[in-house]
Amino acid sequence: MQIFNNPQELQQYVLSQKRKGQLFSLVPTMGFLHKGHISLMHQAKVYANNVIVSIFVNPTQFAPNEDLDKYPRDFEGDEKKCKDAGVDIIFYPSNESIYPADYQTFVNVEKVSQNLCGASRPHHFQGVTTVVAKLFNICLPDYAFFGEKDFQQLTVIKRMTKDLNFPIEIIPVPTFREDDGLAMSSRNKYLKGKEREDALVLYKSIKRVSELFSRGERNVSLLLSEAQKIISSTPLAYIDYIKIVDIETMNDVDFITKDSLFALAVKIGSTRLIDNCKLLLTKGEKDV
Ligand code: PAF
Repeated sequence: MQIFNNPQELQQYVLSQKRKGQLFSLVPTMGFLHKGHISLMHQAKVYANNVIVSIFVNPTQFAPNEDLDKYPRDFEGDEKKCKDAGVDIIFYPSNESIYPADYQTFVNVEKVSQNLCGASRPHHFQGVTTVVAKLFNICLPDYAFFGEKDFQQLTVIKRMTKDLNFPIEIIPVPTFREDDGLAMSSRNKYLKGKEREDALVLYKSIKRVSELFSRGERNVSLLLSEAQKIISSTPLAYIDYIKIVDIETMNDVDFITKDSLFALAVKIGSTRLIDNCKLLLTKGEKDV
């Protein structure tokens, strides 16, 4: 496994290999790798012989009041996990090599980044799309892998890839969960004592909404009020948003007449967690 810190060196290396016909998969991460990331790496290897994992805690996607400084880091542990997962290259750049002092270019995807996390974290997606566009240009992958836990991020990145004509296939990977249902996230590390158990309200509300939806409930206020009841039963849980949106546009819906997404962001103590599930119409309903 090779480790590159310098963007130009990695770009030149990938170019030279691509001239020999090699294919590359990219798994962009902010490190502190967990089983969800490992499942992305395994998928990545299925698509291409060369897997690059980028590890970069991207400052531009954090607001000044967010957890950039305390975001968990463990490069040695990450290196071992990558090696064990059969990764070929780790890209581990410095902040200065990605954002030199005179840096001034940002990528902004307009509509699908407005709702949900975009409303709660106004500059977040601009930071994500900017760094992902840079990673695409540096790593020149044929395939790039993103987890469905960050469903809106995946949608925003798909849009950017299409709009900016990146010759890259975006591969979504299903959310990886702990045995009790909590979605894997580097931020789960912040959960202390009882908070870990309280964090299950996200999964419990997803299960309840999916169950009602599969029994035919299509009324969004009713589905959301059921989810809200579950979340408010936990005093430590504070709702940032719970919404049902059109799965393509990310716009709110009142009644489910198209494939949709139940998405929520809940603070457990001071830790903000997100999760979601798809609410897909039956073929019969779609034909109507
Ligand atoms: O999902 C993440 O870990 C980050 O948002 C990403 C895609 C690596 C960009 O910094």
